[in-house]
Amino acid sequence: MEKVLVVENLKKNYGSIQALKGISFDVNPGEIFALIGPNGAGKTTALRIIATILSSNGGDVYVYGMSVKKQPEKVREIISYLPEEAGAYKVLTGREYLRFMASLFAPDEKTCKEYVEVASEIADLGDRINNKISTYSKGMTRKLLLARAVMTAPKLAILDEPTSGLDVLNALEIRNTIKKLAKSGMTVLVSSHNMLEIEYLCDRVGIINKGEILEVGTPGELKEKFGAQNIEEVFAEVAR
Ligand SMILES: Nc1ncnc2c1ncn2[C@@H]1O[C@H](COP(=O)(O)OP(=O)(O)O)[C@@H](O)[C@H]1O
Ligand SMILES: [Mg+2]
Repeated sequence: MEKVLVVENLKKNYGSIQALKGISFDVNPGEIFALIGPNGAGKTTALRIIATILSSNGGDVYVYGMSVKKQPEKVREIISYLPEEAGAYKVLTGREYLRFMASLFAPDEKTCKEYVEVASEIADLGDRINNKISTYSKGMTRKLLLARAVMTAPKLAILDEPTSGLDVLNALEIRNTIKKLAKSGMTVLVSSHNMLEIEYLCDRVGIINKGEILEVGTPGELKEKFGAQNIEEVFAEVAR
């Protein structure tokens, strides 16, 4: 089976800080893979390198066999990236925002309209899609941004902490949307510092701490291996 994503001995330094000390993992087609770990573990750094917007100091990343170092333009055509601190233009309505973003990616007007329709459905904001983003709650804005990130039907969606800062119901909605996208064939790489919610979302997890991947497996495998009730307990075991 061809891997969607292969991360090979990836290293990144910021000055004297070793943010990634040579991490490796891979992601299969249609899988939801979560990089989980506490703040400062290196999740955002890893995701930004995979998304081709940050360069590494060693190792490489392959998306469908294409190197982010050697063929970043090719990789960019088949991925999308939702940054951790993404914002939307508040003076626009939700629909205007989607239309503007679609116009940047779509090759023609027809495709642009399709992108907007697809994204409106995924955002699931009802009539509020026609209201100014400045009137949206955090949860509504996040749904809009997630919809924007996946409207082009990327082969790999890279979502940095898509549920962080959201209340239970909004987080649940975002997780359900991500699950639906994966069911429809999209491969998803997410990050989260919330280890408990991740069990309900992903097929496999990579536990990252201080720039190193400590374990990779399904939540079930890891819980069994460490005799743990949940992934938080697994983390406490492996990070000791
Ligand atoms: N632009 C930067 N300059 C210097 N240090 C950084 C920068 N970005 C991240 N770091 C450091 O790299 C480490 C990993 O950060 P990050 O990838 O943001 O982790 P996470 O997303 O898991 O919280 C942290 O020690 C952080 O302080
Ligand atoms: Mg982060």
